[in-house]
Amino acid sequence: MSTVEGHAGKLIFGKLGGVDIMAMEGRFHYYEGYNMKEVTFPIRVMYELGIKTLFVSNASGGMNPEFKIGDLMIITDHINFFPEHPLRGKNFPTGPRFPDMHETYDNALIAQADAIAAEKGIRVVHGVYMGVQGPTFETPAEYKMYHRMGADAVGMSTVPEVIVAHHCGIRTFGISIITDLGLEDTPVEVSHEEVQVAANRAQPLMTEIMREMIRRA
Ligand code: HPA
Repeated sequence: MSTVEGHAGKLIFGKLGGVDIMAMEGRFHYYEGYNMKEVTFPIRVMYELGIKTLFVSNASGGMNPEFKIGDLMIITDHINFFPEHPLRGKNFPTGPRFPDMHETYDNALIAQADAIAAEKGIRVVHGVYMGVQGPTFETPAEYKMYHRMGADAVGMSTVPEVIVAHHCGIRTFGISIITDLGLEDTPVEVSHEEVQVAANRAQPLMTEIMREMIRRA
């Protein structure tokens, strides 16, 4: 059960644009106390049920100075900054012991999302998502460090699930909603409420892009 307000904890099965879909409303976060096997268990279930493509979404703090609150950031790559690796332990036979991670986020899906966003006049940005354990938001020094390490946005989810999906050979596409900004030299306080408000506002645009991608699948 997801224990965070705003993260409901349901599995939904249905069809979207004629395509069979399975959706998670909410997810297990590492900061809730789950271990990595638990956090990524739903992906293992999805794999066993035969899903071919994973769409992930999250909220994050933008560190790229070009970003604005409410932006949709198409995730082009990630930095795994969690203290525990989701593939630690005996290797599952779904993939190799030492998986390549060069195209973790599918380039064809990224191009398709760009095209759909352009058609619909929805602003999207591209960037690298850094996954951290939380539950604290970042100090100004941490935002600065993560940005200098090469990340455009930072959040507390997604990376473990994407690693497991990739190891299972599932194509992955992700969008991060920029809900707050951690810019160098302009520190602004952030709260869970603000994150929820910004996420709820941008979410319909994200859904529009993903729905259209599924329709065209
Ligand atoms: N940092 C980490 N996680 C987040 C943030 C942030 O600024 N915003 C939303 N999730």
